[in-house]
Amino acid sequence: MKKTWYKEMAVYQIWPRSFCDSDGDGIGDLGGVLKKLDYIKSLNVDAIWFSPLYPSPNADYGYDISDYKNINPEYGDLETFKKVLDEAHKRGLRVFMDLVINHTSSEHEWFRESMKSKDNPYHDYYFWRKGKSDKKPPNNWLSCFEGGAWEYNKELDEYYLHVFSKGQPDLNMDNPKVREEVKSIMRFWLDMGVDGFREDVITYISKDEGLPDGFPLPISTGIEHYKKGPHLYEYLAEFRHDVLDHYDCFTVGEGPMMTTETALEFITEGENQVLNTMFHFQHMEADSIMTDWVSVPFSLKKLKKAFTHWQNELAGKAWNTLYLENHDHPRIIDRYGSLKYRVESAKMLATMCYLQCGTPFIYQGQEIGMTNIHIDSLDKYKDVVTFNNQKVFAKIGIKGDRFLKLANKCSRENARTPVQWDDSPYAGFSTAKPWFELNPNYTEINVQAAENDPNSILNYYRKLLKFRKENEIAVYGSYKEHLKESRTLYVFEREYEGQRMLVINSFTDKNVRFEAPSGFDLSKGELVLSNYRICPLSDNSFVTRPYETRVYLFK
Ligand code: GLC
Repeated sequence: MKKTWYKEMAVYQIWPRSFCDSDGDGIGDLGGVLKKLDYIKSLNVDAIWFSPLYPSPNADYGYDISDYKNINPEYGDLETFKKVLDEAHKRGLRVFMDLVINHTSSEHEWFRESMKSKDNPYHDYYFWRKGKSDKKPPNNWLSCFEGGAWEYNKELDEYYLHVFSKGQPDLNMDNPKVREEVKSIMRFWLDMGVDGFREDVITYISKDEGLPDGFPLPISTGIEHYKKGPHLYEYLAEFRHDVLDHYDCFTVGEGPMMTTETALEFITEGENQVLNTMFHFQHMEADSIMTDWVSVPFSLKKLKKAFTHWQNELAGKAWNTLYLENHDHPRIIDRYGSLKYRVESAKMLATMCYLQCGTPFIYQGQEIGMTNIHIDSLDKYKDVVTFNNQKVFAKIGIKGDRFLKLANKCSRENARTPVQWDDSPYAGFSTAKPWFELNPNYTEINVQAAENDPNSILNYYRKLLKFRKENEIAVYGSYKEHLKESRTLYVFEREYEGQRMLVINSFTDKNVRFEAPSGFDLSKGELVLSNYRICPLSDNSFVTRPYETRVYLFK
């Protein structure tokens, strides 16, 4: 496969509100990012992806943008951003912005204008439609976030479409003027020196003509009419040819419900490629069905199947993303690892994921093994998705404490607690009470403590990412799974230019006998990474310890 910088990099994701506060208002900001750039660099990552930094009324914490060419005053201003960009570049860190163009905020000027009259030039920037004659919305679509997908406006006697919250009206990408606006936004940031974009729910930007009724579901009814719309490819190709091709930049598109087959239409390398890579969700469903909120017991077989499928299907054709956490999911240790073996399982999960073929994405706090928070009262939650699910689950009788328990486990707010920097009163995140609950375990789990411990998760991440940087086999090697039927071990091999690497991961606290697959002589391999200090071998096998991981390199 063609070698290129974005395949070799590792990316650190910042969700700015909870990263680090520099001005004492309890909200993370760009000053905080500036202070932590050396720390980020020390992780051996090569780039930062910023979740939205733009002005936003925060109906969806930044994913509702009211001005695409500015910085949220809560986080700083354009000058501070340029400083961050410059200082990041000085350290060899690229910077990617979040491009949220499926929808704007309902407080964006375009939307305000669009609401003024039916002949306002901005009216057609959005999906304004007449209701059905019986005072019903134009179709039966339900939003992914907040009840019906249509909101009525009395003055216009029309409804507008929002597939996310009411505060996030969908842009009408079929309008060429809207696409020109998108290109202008892209150029604005790229000309400033930004290195690319993570493209938010990018696969939703084209809707089926006529917006037909959808198949009834508890949420997201209608999704089949926009999850990969008729003009999606065409619009992405237009963005590529008109803008992206003129810069040395990177794009990663978020594709909910994405299959390898569909992804390949967009990311297959060559002439027709319109995105560099994509985020899919299949490996995030090893303990849930469709959404994190419908949880089932963790299945390693399901996890392995998803990973292996993406590794095999993209091999030689397209590039994978590798992630276990972001701002939309509970913490991974609580899901696929073990709280009892927090350190061991965090290291194992990182090894298992980031030594596959693809670009690693690490979410803030993941590198120190932050865990879910137990919130004791529903009114401490802040997210529109949690509020919506409260209503959805109430309909099937899950209310009060039962819902609280569910939210504790499943809410994406688990990933949004402030980063734990040290054990001082507000965890070194701020000098004031943070905007959101701080996980009380910060007194033990924090960056400072991890810095001082050579065996910490943090130092393991550094080692792992350094190893990946220094060994092309970890980046470009082929992938082959072993012991497919095992319910406790995830074993795979990488191969590159005569070298082989065997990655052995245990997903259990039980002792399991591991026998090396045929063709491997462990005594001839170099043990390059492991999460236990002493690694005994007998013959060509060993008994795994809880959540053990070992990586053998054969040169
Ligand atoms: C993406 C974002 C998520 C946001 C949604 C709507 O899935 O990652 O945080 O709420 O899109 O913009």
